[in-house]
Amino acid sequence: SANDAPRAQQPSAAYDSAFLKACRREPVPHTPVWFMRQAGRSLPEYRKVREGTAMLESCMRPELVTEITLQPVRRHGVDAAIYFSDIVVPLKAIGIDLDIKPGIGPVVEHPIRTRADLAQLRDLTPEDVSYVTEAIGLLTRELGATPLIGFAGAPFTLASYLVEGGPSRTYENAKAMMYGDPELWADLLDRLADITAAFLKVQIEAGASAVQLFDSWAGALAPVDYRRSVLPASAKVFEAVAGYGVPRIHFGVGTGELLGLMGEAGADVVGVDWRVPMDEAARRIGPGKALQGNLDPTVLFAPTEAVEAKTREVLASAQDLEGHIFNLGHGVMPSTDPDALTRLVEHVHALTAR
Ligand code: CP3
Repeated sequence: SANDAPRAQQPSAAYDSAFLKACRREPVPHTPVWFMRQAGRSLPEYRKVREGTAMLESCMRPELVTEITLQPVRRHGVDAAIYFSDIVVPLKAIGIDLDIKPGIGPVVEHPIRTRADLAQLRDLTPEDVSYVTEAIGLLTRELGATPLIGFAGAPFTLASYLVEGGPSRTYENAKAMMYGDPELWADLLDRLADITAAFLKVQIEAGASAVQLFDSWAGALAPVDYRRSVLPASAKVFEAVAGYGVPRIHFGVGTGELLGLMGEAGADVVGVDWRVPMDEAARRIGPGKALQGNLDPTVLFAPTEAVEAKTREVLASAQDLEGHIFNLGHGVMPSTDPDALTRLVEHVHALTAR
């Protein structure tokens, strides 16, 4: 990991999995399925093992991370695991004073508003997140042929928390910096790109077989601003991990107008929320990329027949794609009935078995 030039990853036990084949746009035995936020509060076994341990503390305990990551794989039979962590973990690891408040989300003690505030950001080293390397080592052994997805927050979404100081609906402070001091904004995003790239490299070198960049809140931006003020930093992250040959997924919410640009940023797979049908998303993204999505997570609160009808609708709109990974259009909501998720996995597998 001291080497700057990434070495191409050796084919792992998961190389021939349906998920990785779909990412590479190769023929698959069935459409692979996983869910964003598949590990978490929808599962009673998660709530049980998390009892009495704060979210960020949980992310630093390799045995607990391993158990929580495996829970949805055991219960639902999903085609991939996603590493249990949070997008603010690398920021905490470089010493930023932040916490994840239950029911609220990440809260930053000293928001970044001025050039002097940038001093809070330093480079991330593998030693800062040794618990991640350890947990992924444990996990890949347990998972065998099931692929493990690593992830990180994209520079814009991380900046939205750092500049606002917490969750926001409007991103007024972040946008004020983006429009009012474009140089400071660019420097902030560039530093976050380096931290994010370093964090993804740790996960890939430890054995993650794909990575997802969450730019969850990029949908707040107009295409012209996304292209000028955000895309260069996200492109830097994708470029930094290109040499490993592991699929790179790019996801955001409300990004219908940005799908083409999010593909251009360098991803192999573009995640789509439920607002744009998959065939239309494919037209916007263009050839050469697999797509991931896009059942509305609230559909899972409807009766099984309605879930199945909406599932068939997603699969029909995705039938001509070069590669399709079935997912929700955003994360599993905490009050979702876990049995509805298990049924959904079975249904997608049954409908798409070749
Ligand atoms: O299963 C998985 O998908 C992996 C787990 C995961 C978590 N956070 C665990 C978590 C992932 C992929 C994330 C990413 C993340 N975190 C994003 C991007 C994904 C998205 O949903 O768009 C964002 C924006 C965050 C920031 C964040 N962290 C929020 C908004 C919250 C929710 C606050 C709340 O309590 O409702 C968190 C906390 C968090 N991250 C929880 C979990 C399981 C809930 C805390 C808990 O269980 O105690």
